[in-house]
Amino acid sequence: MKNIKNYIENNKDIFIEELIALLKMPSISADKAYKKELLLTADFVKERLEKAGCDAVEICETPGNPIIYGEKIIDKSLPTVLVYGHYDVQPADPINLWDSPPFEPVIKPTDVHPEGAIFARGSCDDKGQMYMHIKAMEYMSSTGNLPCNVKFMIEGEEEIGSESLSWFVPRNKEKLANDVILISDTGMIANDIPSITTGLRGLSYVEVEVTGPNRDLHSGLYGGAVANPINILTQMIASLHDEDNHITIPGFYDHVEELSLEERAEMAKAPFSLENYKKAVQINDVHGEKGYTTNERNSIRPTLDVNGIWGGYMGEGAKTVIASKAFAKISMRLVPNQDWKEITQLFKNHFEKIAPKSVTVLVKPHHGGQGYVTPIDNIGYKAASKAYETTFNKTPIPQRSGGSIPIVALFEQELKSKTILMGFGLDSDAIHSPNEHFGIFNYLKGIETIPYFYKYFTELYLQEKAE
Ligand code: BES
Ligand code: MN
Ligand code: MN
Repeated sequence: MKNIKNYIENNKDIFIEELIALLKMPSISADKAYKKELLLTADFVKERLEKAGCDAVEICETPGNPIIYGEKIIDKSLPTVLVYGHYDVQPADPINLWDSPPFEPVIKPTDVHPEGAIFARGSCDDKGQMYMHIKAMEYMSSTGNLPCNVKFMIEGEEEIGSESLSWFVPRNKEKLANDVILISDTGMIANDIPSITTGLRGLSYVEVEVTGPNRDLHSGLYGGAVANPINILTQMIASLHDEDNHITIPGFYDHVEELSLEERAEMAKAPFSLENYKKAVQINDVHGEKGYTTNERNSIRPTLDVNGIWGGYMGEGAKTVIASKAFAKISMRLVPNQDWKEITQLFKNHFEKIAPKSVTVLVKPHHGGQGYVTPIDNIGYKAASKAYETTFNKTPIPQRSGGSIPIVALFEQELKSKTILMGFGLDSDAIHSPNEHFGIFNYLKGIETIPYFYKYFTELYLQEKAE
């Protein structure tokens, strides 16, 4: 694979051009109005997989958005890598906070991306990272460097809970059989500090509705004498944390995996600057659960956050009114051993219990998923680590992430294989936010690193088999 650097140098303009074409397609899964665009994006991915050398590429229909599947089986005695990614993106809102339109990609340098970054919705999450795999495949298959079998599965509902994929996977176990699953949909510490994501948090997402009077009331005539659902809802939400920022839901921490002091000391070795962290998001101070560091709070500890809250009069000027209803969307990030369905039930029971008699509370569960940890003593992790060593000249640091990809736990359950998370994004790439971007360095480094994963994984696999 000595030629890979040249190959990338010679083709980088085309790689960037192709990614820009993909980023121009507004494949927003949360909004039904974009269904046509999602289908067009699926066609684009299919065509690119074919061009990259995959056989039997198909668009698999599901109850929701289609899944693109493609494979290249070269020898049944060799291992099989299953690549997963998603072609759907988050909505672009709030659109007025973008410096350039979200689906008209532009390349601009930033502090941490001096060689330029592509600004567009989905550039980092996950189109740019998914497309690295297609280009890496193209390199391997066109230059005789594909050392094993490969399968691709690219879905279009990750950002809304992967419902169709959860339907698809159990129905296609044989087709999806593999020796390792490879995903680039996470991040790394910095461009000169490579890291491999070894954990993802689980998720329970609920919506709550508090109802007081049957209609909005005059706040003078009724104020003080009837329950105001907004007052009540905010009190209830405030009571979900105590003064140490522990979550107060009974049983919430029962199964939380507690890390040993050794493991926590190991975690604390990862480079981290509190000053830079605060500066990056312009906060005066951090905030979180007592007894834990910032990096622990956002990875190995569970959380509860209100994602949205509304009710009452929100128009211009003042309107004196006691609303009939108040609403909130609440997410709980979970850690290993917490079961999302159980946590959802605990939340529901508790929230209904703490509601005063003067209101009615409705808890509507949305989607959720289990957390995940990748052991670092398997050949998948070792191959990834060696791949980064080769292209970054540094040993990558294992690090647990605070984000969630719920489908990874389902993969393990249904397909019985481990997932390796080789993410090339940075926390500062603003995924889900206005001005999302993906570094050109990261994009090309990803394309360069991925083929080494295949090479080392195949070598380690054959070695293990021979023993
Ligand atoms: N790619 C992200 C998850 C992610 C990002 C993990 C960075 C680790 C580091 C994924 O697309 C995502 O946004 N997941 C959602 C969950 C999903 C059920 C909507 C999340 O984490 O909020
Ligand atoms: Mn993603
Ligand atoms: Mn996402």
